[in-house]
Amino acid sequence: MKRKLITSALPYIHGIPHLGNIIGSVLQADVYSRFCRLRGENVLFICGSDSHGTMFEITAKKEGTTPEKLVYENHRKVKEIFRKFNLSFDYYGITDSETNRELTSYIFGKLDKNGYIKEKEVESAYCDNCKRFLSDRLIEGICPFCGGLARGDQCDDCGKLIDIKEIIKPHCVLCGKPIVFKKITHLFLDLPKFEKELLDFVEKSSRWSKLAKTETVGFLKQGLKPRAITRDATWGFKVPRKDYENKVFYVWFDAPIGYLSFTKEYCGDEKEFEDWWKNKDTELVQFMAKDNTIFHSIIFPAMLKGCRENWKVVDRLVSCGWLRTEGIKFSKSRGKGLTTEEALKKYPADYWRFVLISLYPEQNDSVFSMEILKETINNEFADIIGNFVHRVLSFCYSNYKEVPKIDFVEDKILEETKKIYREITKNFEECRFQEALKNIIHYGKISNAYFNNNEPWKKEEEEKKKISFISANLVKNLAILLYPIVPKFSKQVFDFLEVKNIKWENAKEFDFSGKIKELKPLVDKL
Ligand code: MF3
Ligand code: ZN
Repeated sequence: MKRKLITSALPYIHGIPHLGNIIGSVLQADVYSRFCRLRGENVLFICGSDSHGTMFEITAKKEGTTPEKLVYENHRKVKEIFRKFNLSFDYYGITDSETNRELTSYIFGKLDKNGYIKEKEVESAYCDNCKRFLSDRLIEGICPFCGGLARGDQCDDCGKLIDIKEIIKPHCVLCGKPIVFKKITHLFLDLPKFEKELLDFVEKSSRWSKLAKTETVGFLKQGLKPRAITRDATWGFKVPRKDYENKVFYVWFDAPIGYLSFTKEYCGDEKEFEDWWKNKDTELVQFMAKDNTIFHSIIFPAMLKGCRENWKVVDRLVSCGWLRTEGIKFSKSRGKGLTTEEALKKYPADYWRFVLISLYPEQNDSVFSMEILKETINNEFADIIGNFVHRVLSFCYSNYKEVPKIDFVEDKILEETKKIYREITKNFEECRFQEALKNIIHYGKISNAYFNNNEPWKKEEEEKKKISFISANLVKNLAILLYPIVPKFSKQVFDFLEVKNIKWENAKEFDFSGKIKELKPLVDKL
């Protein structure tokens, strides 16, 4: 079996990630990592803070601090939030690290030596009032595609990449004055040189999510153009080249290199690091939201291939849609929606994980609201799952103080269990998390029906024991299947059952009996 290197898109930390960011990358990657680990796979799950880019300069200025202070302060907060969300990263780094500086410089050097970096004079946005060149997010205007808010080279509303020159009524974010264009030299990654290689690569990549494929093919159709990798800014990694002293690398150049740097920091030793990143037996699985796709499907692979050093490039690229609220993306830069900190103060992490996965925007954007949260938690998590667990285990405890051992299981429930287990496994494998959760809820309904229709409280001793045994095993099975999504809940169930060494395959077995602890209710209604 291949070793799995699993990554989540690195969240920008000029603000605290919102719920849309959580489902957009870290949570889906966490659910998948937990599923793989439970199956006994060799997993390395990495992520980290994306700490460069113009946004940091703007935010720091607004908050009367420096980008550096802002970054390290937020890095600490974000790590804490992710810990509370039970995200099981093996390593969580930060792109501003020394390792990443070295590796960025190293990869830049290789690309340069191999002829993939070229210098080009361009017309760049300039503010006559502020007397500075304006990169990316220092320019705002109207998006030529959707009429929404264009910020720098990307639209906040439709997510499309925009040529700065096409923005309607562009103005300087710092002072609000209209911008002018001035000539200046920048370094470019010569993407057209990779065209054939990339077309071939994308065509052969059969295990990408639908959205990942369509976004990439759409981008390739427009034809590849060289892409600037330097910016006129002060916050970021300095470009190690003469005449570029006043420039830094574009954040999207050093950020994905973070994936390598974090692995290196985690491994500590060069050989182990290369075992992950230069090994045919590694499967690289990368999670992100759709607006991050082409950076991972085209640009980062080109950077890695261009080194001609056999770096591993993405095998499975999973990108999903956006979580919206009232038709608006949960936007960090525009302060819409509930903050993650507020969310965690209101309800436990498992509730959020449950509802976010039930809304997982696998192909289309999905809409979140507090009503949906309430309905989902009350009707599904509390009524179908929590209540069932509680009734069955209380019944076993009050009658036996244990789950009695029985050798007979009816074919019907056995067959249903096997069938649904196969479907759920397949859906997790294919990262169809919303479907997987639907299947689990369905299994929960089957389990409830089994217990209710058999009315063990009315039965003779032998029959009562059998129903208790089977129902308790349904509880255990549900807890295993739910573990990737609501790990804390499942761990509590395992704790009552006093079971250890849980394996995914156990979720289809009726193999549990023995002493149990007295139960407390696990899922409160909202
Ligand atoms: N920070 C970016 C975002 O939030 C994602 C960066 S992913 C990486 O959209 F590839 F650059 F690491
Ligand atoms: Zn200005």
